[in-house]
Amino acid sequence: MVLCTATFLILLASPIFAASSSINSNILPACPSTEDSIYDYIVVGAGAGGGPVAARLAENGFSVLLVETGEDESGNVNTTSLFSAFSAMDDPKIDLDYRIKEYPANFPVQRNDQWYPRSAGIGGCTLHNAGENSIAGMRQQFDTISHTFNDPSWSRDNMQKYWALIENNLYLDPTALNLDHGFNGWLNSSRASAVNFSSTDPKWSALGSSIIAASGTSLIEDQNSHLPLPESGHVLELLTGDDSHLRASIRDKLTPLAASSKNLTIMTNTLATKILLCNDKKGKGRGGNVSAYGLAVALGAKLPVAQGFNGKQKLNEKNIIARREVIVAGGAFQTPQLLMLSGIGDKAQLSKFGIPSIVNLPGVGANLQDNDELPAFWEFTSNFTDPESFGSAITTSAYSNSLEPDLWTYFVPAEFNGFHHGMSIIAANTQNVFTLINLRAGSTSQGYVRLTGSHPQDLLDINKLRFQGPNGRNDIVVLREAIKRWRKVINEDEEIAKYVEREVAPGANVTSDADLEEYILNNVFAHHACCTAAIGADGDPRAVLDGDFNVRGVSNLRVVDASSFPVSPGYFPQSPIYMISEKAAAVILKDAKARS
Ligand SMILES: Cc1cc2nc3c(=O)[nH]c(=O)nc-3n(C[C@H](O)[C@H](O)[C@H](O)COP(=O)(O)OP(=O)(O)OC[C@H]3O[C@@H](n4cnc5c(N)ncnc54)[C@H](O)[C@@H]3O)c2cc1C
Ligand SMILES: *[C@@H]1O[C@H](CO)[C@@H](O)[C@H](O)[C@H]1NC(C)=O
Ligand SMILES: *[C@@H]1O[C@H](CO)[C@@H](O)[C@H](O)[C@H]1NC(C)=O
Ligand SMILES: *[C@@H]1O[C@H](CO)[C@@H](O)[C@H](O)[C@H]1NC(C)=O
Ligand SMILES: *[C@@H]1O[C@H](CO)[C@@H](O)[C@H](O)[C@H]1NC(C)=O
Ligand SMILES: *[C@@H]1O[C@H](CO)[C@@H](O)[C@H](O)[C@H]1NC(C)=O
Ligand SMILES: *[C@@H]1O[C@H](CO)[C@@H](O)[C@H](O)[C@H]1NC(C)=O
Ligand SMILES: *[C@@H]1O[C@H](CO)[C@@H](O)[C@H](O)[C@H]1NC(C)=O
Repeated sequence: MVLCTATFLILLASPIFAASSSINSNILPACPSTEDSIYDYIVVGAGAGGGPVAARLAENGFSVLLVETGEDESGNVNTTSLFSAFSAMDDPKIDLDYRIKEYPANFPVQRNDQWYPRSAGIGGCTLHNAGENSIAGMRQQFDTISHTFNDPSWSRDNMQKYWALIENNLYLDPTALNLDHGFNGWLNSSRASAVNFSSTDPKWSALGSSIIAASGTSLIEDQNSHLPLPESGHVLELLTGDDSHLRASIRDKLTPLAASSKNLTIMTNTLATKILLCNDKKGKGRGGNVSAYGLAVALGAKLPVAQGFNGKQKLNEKNIIARREVIVAGGAFQTPQLLMLSGIGDKAQLSKFGIPSIVNLPGVGANLQDNDELPAFWEFTSNFTDPESFGSAITTSAYSNSLEPDLWTYFVPAEFNGFHHGMSIIAANTQNVFTLINLRAGSTSQGYVRLTGSHPQDLLDINKLRFQGPNGRNDIVVLREAIKRWRKVINEDEEIAKYVEREVAPGANVTSDADLEEYILNNVFAHHACCTAAIGADGDPRAVLDGDFNVRGVSNLRVVDASSFPVSPGYFPQSPIYMISEKAAAVILKDAKARS
């Protein structure tokens, strides 16, 4: 009896047991020798997550293969000028035309065909994004991971050093001592030119004074320092770009490095189709002897969401062996797909498509999180003449679940009513429109990314399940109160009123709480998908990764991209993703050293 209890306790306390009970390594082939492989590391996806780690490993003398389904768009002005961001989002050469569902089938509002923009190419989504450069809002998130694993390297303050490694800061004095920032990194980082609504356009000045007054007079000049944000204030925009709005992205590092060094090989126009797994008979595996030893790829094959996709093909796959590790960074949608196609995911889901379960990890493709964003816009009597003048305001709602403000309100001098194809044309034709977007960080919705078939070119079933969690009601209330507050700021200011033609959305007739909530359900959008292969504690059933980005139950396999975060990162994810990618490189280099 005593023995029995003791065993029971050990089993409960042992995550290894929990993992190995759901690991099925005996159907795998024995691990081959990888000694003769050309590549030490294979990285899937050249975006914000995959790019920095690939470059850093190559610079440290390893042979790295970076597999990317898109092309090199270095010469395409849509991707080189931040002014062209809207055009880039519409550019068929890079557009991945994902369609997602917002709500479950039984919900009264149905939005089942929402365009969710993403882009392919060297740089991934950083080729078309808006260039918002923010590591603010990450304090609680990094510190939580640090506490979960009792690992000080994850603390917010320590993470700042990865930012300094990345950044080529163009807005501070490089000769003054500043440990928060870097002046030799690969990413140009600048401050927007007209930073605080001071503008020659009297409409902007009126809006600026009113917005500043409403968000408190705190001016956050450097949101990317290590200092926590105040409860409210207005923010000087920082950009991933230089002063002339030349876009900066990981592409700036990758293409020159691949051209000049044999250490980095980039295979573009190549689709990763499966992670090659084997049974490590030496029993060195993470609890179940499953090990990754390479990647299956299909040259010339496109994702089904790519423009110009001409139907599912019988793929001509080729296996590439990795001497050391495979690192998956296909983004929040494709990373869970690749894991699931390889037998890593929710066993019940995989069995629907005849995929044998190798490691049962129900968190793969679950926990799809995002920010909530809600537009409101006004028609003015004349065009905005100073499109460069902008800024943001931060405020804290009654339901904030973070140490830092949960509302980031940004302003656009054109109609921006979520993402629609043709939006660059709409924006060009609406120069007299002022849009205000309330971006809520810390939305509690948890959706999913699921397979619809076992072929790599089958579409994904993506559902945000927005507002469906236990705190979904509060999330709606936060947006409702934010929109009430900000429309008051705009509509009740006499100076602004001189220039306003009409409120277009929500519209003057939309005033009751019920009508506003209906507006929210029909218009909320987002573009920061994450968390579908998340880092989590031992024993957490949703955890896919440990604190070193390792896929649980598998050796030599990590995930480093937006999927890795347990909760949605801050207000704008690209810079936090760059930071975790540099951290991953440091961890991988340390492990490589320990093994040799
Ligand atoms: C319109 C828009 C505007 C945005 N604006 C901002 C902003 O202003 N500031 C900000 O911080 N963030 C912004 N973001 C978000 C940010 O760009 C993304 O969160 C970030 O790039 C995600 O990084 P990732 O590495 O997870 O994925 P991605 O950057 O999407 O990279 C994934 C890469 O993997 C490739 N890939 C996927 N599957 C495969 C496969 N099977 N085989 C081979 N290759 C594959 C893809 O082609 C892609 O290149 C914006 C996003 C969008 C869509
Ligand atoms: C490439 O790797 C070698 C070691 O194999 C290293 O000496 C060299 O510095 C690396 N090149 C670059 C450009 O980082
Ligand atoms: C830029 O994108 C637009 C679509 O927004 C497209 O029509 C145009 O051809 C692209 N420009 C270049 C140089 O590729
Ligand atoms: C805005 O910037 C202008 C010019 O840099 C400066 O004179 C003014 O004081 C600033 N206003 C605020 C509110 O920061
Ligand atoms: C970074 O900014 C500097 C200064 O504006 C510019 O000369 C350089 O071309 C930029 N680098 C890249 C890769 O865009
Ligand atoms: C892992 O390998 C070791 C050594 O061959 C073996 O004893 C053990 O049973 C294996 N574990 C599993 C779960 O297959
Ligand atoms: C205002 O912008 C529109 C496009 O949005 C343009 O057609 C029009 O000529 C502009 N008006 C003025 C006075 O510049
Ligand atoms: C407000 O007016 C618009 C335009 O006429 C209409 O489409 C919408 O249904 C109205 N909304 C409400 C809540 O009355």
